[in-house]
Amino acid sequence: MRCRLKDWIEKIENAQDLEEIEKIRIELFGKKGYFTQEFERLKTLPKEQKPIVAKELNSAKNALFEALQRKKDELLAKEIQRKLESEKIDVSLYSPHGYKGSLHPVQYTMDKIIEYFISLNYAIETGPLVEEDFYNFEALNLPKHHPARDMQDTFYFKDGKLLRTHTSPVQIRTMQHHKPPIRMISPGAVFRRDFDLTHTPMFHQVEGLVVDEAGKVSFANLKFILQDFLKYMFGDVEVRFRPSFFPFTEPSAEVDISCIFCEGEGCRVCSHTGWLEVLGCGMVDPNVFKAVGYENVSGYAFGLGVERFAMLLHRIGDLRSLFEGDLRLLEQFR
Ligand code: DAH
Repeated sequence: MRCRLKDWIEKIENAQDLEEIEKIRIELFGKKGYFTQEFERLKTLPKEQKPIVAKELNSAKNALFEALQRKKDELLAKEIQRKLESEKIDVSLYSPHGYKGSLHPVQYTMDKIIEYFISLNYAIETGPLVEEDFYNFEALNLPKHHPARDMQDTFYFKDGKLLRTHTSPVQIRTMQHHKPPIRMISPGAVFRRDFDLTHTPMFHQVEGLVVDEAGKVSFANLKFILQDFLKYMFGDVEVRFRPSFFPFTEPSAEVDISCIFCEGEGCRVCSHTGWLEVLGCGMVDPNVFKAVGYENVSGYAFGLGVERFAMLLHRIGDLRSLFEGDLRLLEQFR
């Protein structure tokens, strides 16, 4: 046995690959293997020899098992190393034929909007896409009969929840969890039952909200920020505020920029008005503050559609084309 053990160890040490190791394992420990046979033979030995040989066999078995495992680990490590070396990719290698990816125009526009507000230290807040009536409507001073709650516009679930129709509910969620002062934007997807040249059932908005002690936030602040923001987005445009109505702001305004296609002369894109409507805004309605338990504060809010910005920035005529995933369209934005 002693001599056999040395032979086996040597055989294991000389194994070249995992296949060979497996063969040796079967030879040693398989059903018809060396140890099965040896233990079988043990039964035929005289009684007083049995314990001695059994002990010898067991320690040989352990030693060989360990040797096998050690060699296996070593070969495995070698195999991995070999694979790593043969599959190495040089990511810095220049390829004149490679296709370069690019951002989707909506993502590009979203990033540009976010960059502006981050530079002014606005926080980024998010909320759920499946929203509760309270956040999407009720707390935003949208009474039960308001047309924006119409089944036409909103996707409802059976349990009364809904797909949020705007990013404004994040205002409420943020105010519930933070004390003023607040300075935040909330970018994200929203959903409405709409489908035509300028509407898709899913699109993106960016909501903005600034709240501080009463008297510290004024319409003048809102006007300054939005003017500066729109010039950052569209270049040297004129900005105009038109009185409007939103349930969650009072007073409210819609904001137009001078048409970037005809520079205010009048064209098809601006319906010959010289102006393009780009966002809604206003001073936060006292009822909204009441819904979140805020007192003695003032604030402004605004909301915009990212796809609308993307269409204007990239002169895209049909909004639906942004979501068809057609590479011929996307390749134009490289
Ligand atoms: N939530 C409005 C919409 O989806 C956009 C909006 C308008 C948001 C005015 C505001 C705001 O915060 O003040 O059409």
